[in-house]
Amino acid sequence: MRINNLCKKLITTLHCNTRSRCCVMSWSLLGCILLLHLYSIIQQKHEEGVEFQFNVNHPHPLSHFHELQQVEKENFQIPPPNKKRLHQSKSITPLVDEFLDEHSPLRHVVFFPDKTSAVDPMKSKGNDSYYYYPGRVWLDTDGNPIQAHGGGILFDENSNTYYWYGEYKDGLTYFAHKNKGPARVDIIGVGCYSSKDLWTWKKEGIVLAAEKTNKTHDLHKSNVLERPKVIYNKKTKKYVMWMHIDSANYAKASVGIALSDTPIGPFEYLGSRRPHGYQSRDMTIFKDEDNVAYLIYSSEQNNVMHIGPLTEDYLNVTSVMTRIFVGQRREAPAMFKHKGTYYMVTSGCTGWAPNEALVHTSESILGTWETIGNPCVGGNKMFRVSTFLAQSTFVLPLTKFPGLFIFMADRWNPSELRDSRYVWLPLIVDGSDDQALEYGFGYTLWPRVSIYWHKKWKLPMGWNTFK
Ligand SMILES: *[C@@H]1O[C@H](CO)[C@@H](O)[C@H](O)[C@H]1NC(C)=O
Ligand SMILES: *[C@@H]1O[C@H](CO)[C@@H](O)[C@H](O)[C@H]1NC(C)=O
Ligand SMILES: *[C@@H]1O[C@H](CO)[C@@H](O)[C@H](O)[C@H]1NC(C)=O
Repeated sequence: MRINNLCKKLITTLHCNTRSRCCVMSWSLLGCILLLHLYSIIQQKHEEGVEFQFNVNHPHPLSHFHELQQVEKENFQIPPPNKKRLHQSKSITPLVDEFLDEHSPLRHVVFFPDKTSAVDPMKSKGNDSYYYYPGRVWLDTDGNPIQAHGGGILFDENSNTYYWYGEYKDGLTYFAHKNKGPARVDIIGVGCYSSKDLWTWKKEGIVLAAEKTNKTHDLHKSNVLERPKVIYNKKTKKYVMWMHIDSANYAKASVGIALSDTPIGPFEYLGSRRPHGYQSRDMTIFKDEDNVAYLIYSSEQNNVMHIGPLTEDYLNVTSVMTRIFVGQRREAPAMFKHKGTYYMVTSGCTGWAPNEALVHTSESILGTWETIGNPCVGGNKMFRVSTFLAQSTFVLPLTKFPGLFIFMADRWNPSELRDSRYVWLPLIVDGSDDQALEYGFGYTLWPRVSIYWHKKWKLPMGWNTFK
């Protein structure tokens, strides 16, 4: 705007002082270009100056999170692989091979530490309270490991309570097809836990249960129920659950919908369908600030993600849908919004094995979406290219601190799925939108979205607005 005005001024000034019209035009153009150039240099300097002053005189608006942004390194040694494993390896890093090897000594110490190190909010006192330990066993208020895998969190404004929904997987792990195919656990149902502090979780029970006898029912235990997510519909006053429904061989590729009057169910199962007539596997739902909700799902053999708004009652999709990340093969979508911009964390498609997370961003929810890179910071390189050995499932905003989110991921344990762990880490949206920040560790990162590795961390004081 300011530049345009300057140019207009220049053109009119020149116009008055010169006779030849043609000459005026070319001189004005040249002058304008020179001025533009000068202006941009001055502007740049000016901005640097402002930035400098800003840092000196005012605390950074995200200074609450300073501690969470400290880079924590991981220095464990990976033992040399045995020959068999070297031969078979298809993974992105030796760390993932180690992670997937049931006989790995590191596995039991670092990736899946046993119950003796469990986080037990009922027994932790004083300074030990409220710490998250990504990867450790996490106990509910009854002292049992939380069963809410591939989950998501609903903040219920009616009761000022958080509800965590996820796959209840406390059953036997076996292979779908005679020692081949993906490891699975029969459907047990959707587990629900409630909390006021996002740390102490009370089991509310199985709010949508498997069907034990009717073999043609979607929820028959031999089928697949994954990634349940719940949102509240203010108009109908109903809690609406969407989930991935599939057959054991993943051929059904549908979404299921269930409904309840209360956050703790029981949810009534309404059935499944293929949204917009397409396959739907990993999925999530997202409720925007204007109360319009969206379904986001991996489709077309996981090659393309689809996104489209739901109907007002949140019980169906509408005819509007756009195809995003075409050919990128992304799954495990976790959507969030900050200052009017939409963000999504996704994973690649490598079954239960971890892979590299990517962040995508868009000014408008239906696109155009742009992929801005791997958000993981800290740990070590192998940790960062494997999403800290976990897979995205949800991103929870903390309304008191705009820009701070909890990144929720699953550290799947394919040999014992019920013992899969939760990796919760701070996710921070920071920095300018157009510049990559130099962190000075020999790598450059996109600043917009960062997930910081911590062995142990807690939310900053005062995050909880209602407690
Ligand atoms: C808790 O932390 C405070 C401040 O760091 C310290 O003074 C106090 O001794 C700690 N208490 C325990 C039980 O460790
Ligand atoms: C089994 O489930 C199917 C699908 O939901 C339903 O149509 C059928 O009536 C059920 N059968 C029985 C015996 O309940
Ligand atoms: C859901 O919407 C689709 C298309 O918009 C429509 O064809 C279908 O009948 C609807 N299903 C239900 C159960 O309302």
